[in-house]
Amino acid sequence: MTRQVISDELESIEKASIDELRALQLQRMKKSLTHAYENSPHYRKSFDEHGVHPGDLNELADLAKFPYTTKQDLRANYPFNMFATPMDDIVRIHASSGTTGKPTVVGYTQNDIDTWADVVARSIRAAGGRRKDLVHVAYGYGLFTGGLGAHYGAERLGCTVIPMSGGQTEKQVQLIRDFNPDIIMVTPSYMLNIADELERQGVNPGDLNLRLGIFGAEPWTGSMRQELEQRLGIDAIDIYGLSEVMGPGVAMECAETKDGPTIWEDHFYPEIIDPQTGEVLPDGEEGELVFTSLSKEALPIIRYRTRDLTRLLPGTARTMRRMDRITGRSDDMLIIRGVNVFPTQIEEQIIGVEGLAPHYLIEVRRDGNLDKMKVQVEAQFKMDEGQKAQTAKELQHHIKSLVGVSTAIEIVEPNSVPRSEGKAKRVIDHREL
Ligand code: DLL
Repeated sequence: MTRQVISDELESIEKASIDELRALQLQRMKKSLTHAYENSPHYRKSFDEHGVHPGDLNELADLAKFPYTTKQDLRANYPFNMFATPMDDIVRIHASSGTTGKPTVVGYTQNDIDTWADVVARSIRAAGGRRKDLVHVAYGYGLFTGGLGAHYGAERLGCTVIPMSGGQTEKQVQLIRDFNPDIIMVTPSYMLNIADELERQGVNPGDLNLRLGIFGAEPWTGSMRQELEQRLGIDAIDIYGLSEVMGPGVAMECAETKDGPTIWEDHFYPEIIDPQTGEVLPDGEEGELVFTSLSKEALPIIRYRTRDLTRLLPGTARTMRRMDRITGRSDDMLIIRGVNVFPTQIEEQIIGVEGLAPHYLIEVRRDGNLDKMKVQVEAQFKMDEGQKAQTAKELQHHIKSLVGVSTAIEIVEPNSVPRSEGKAKRVIDHREL
């Protein structure tokens, strides 16, 4: 039987010159804008209101003339009104659960599913995966794009897939022991949980074939990478994506450089903008990541505001540009007495303190006019009160001097912070409740 798989070799576009890449992008961008304008009433209306027409795009920089698309636009067109192809051609629906109200719904044609499988296959290969590898997928299957996105990509690379999905941690570990996969694809926070369970079951990671973890769907730090790599004896590589743009595989870190995800720019055109003014910023400057799809059919996405904060960096392992590790989403940023704080900054400090496990929960409340932040964090082992007080003091000091906020620290027993089985919930902000 033949399988439709991509080669283990790089595709020619991954090796193309910048000029070739920019020429392809311009040609595809024109097509994508035209497709959106002609087939999606939403885009026709928003382009018309802005006084722009797809014909106004003569060079890539002209994209700045076009209006942004936001999550609110998708919500306003719930569920299927943004689609630019007839429902007959839509073969798949996914959705991401919003924290409030209706989910954001996305659709795919068969060509979209094929492109997606190709970019995820390319991503796994960039991470160091090869044909015939055994891939354990512990991203959730269902409306979330993680499970099925990883699944189709791994199959497309010619791997053998174990579609475990999220949850059932004991069973995850049993399958890892019995099937002995080479690669695991899962959120980094859930990988920690699985690592704890491996330990509990007395498995020595050195006895497993596992050599590569493809981790994403939530922000994670360089310190977390080190922690996972050392504990499990694997390479931990960052995969980025979002359902509105496609799903996992919009960008992928390359194993040879491990210096932030390479954006698959032949399909997804990135910009960085000032989140306050909407002005386009030059490469290298930090701001909000915006994407325009270059090949999508069912749901062309034009200048989608991701809310993710990062910067664009020049290519290293590929000609295509990289994005820096995501600091956080603008909606995850906590403002504590005027200081901007991202959960990842707290995570970095926790991992730096001896005796603490990277399982934590940040609680924020308002006491009179004052914001109060408390970090609940687990001890790695049973500590007496003196040790707890000493460790808490150390963490408090690091957070104060390096992040710039005063916090209360509560060190809790091992295994008492709620575990994630997918994307971790790190913050409870009582000010919003
Ligand atoms: O999380 C798609 C995905 C699945 C990516 C599996 C990677 C692996 P959504 O549920 O729509 O899609 O959430 C997208 O998750 O805007 C980021 O805020 C965050 N995110 C995704 N990957 C990363 C990453 C999937 N590598 C939102 N680092 C995005 C930091 C990430 N944040």
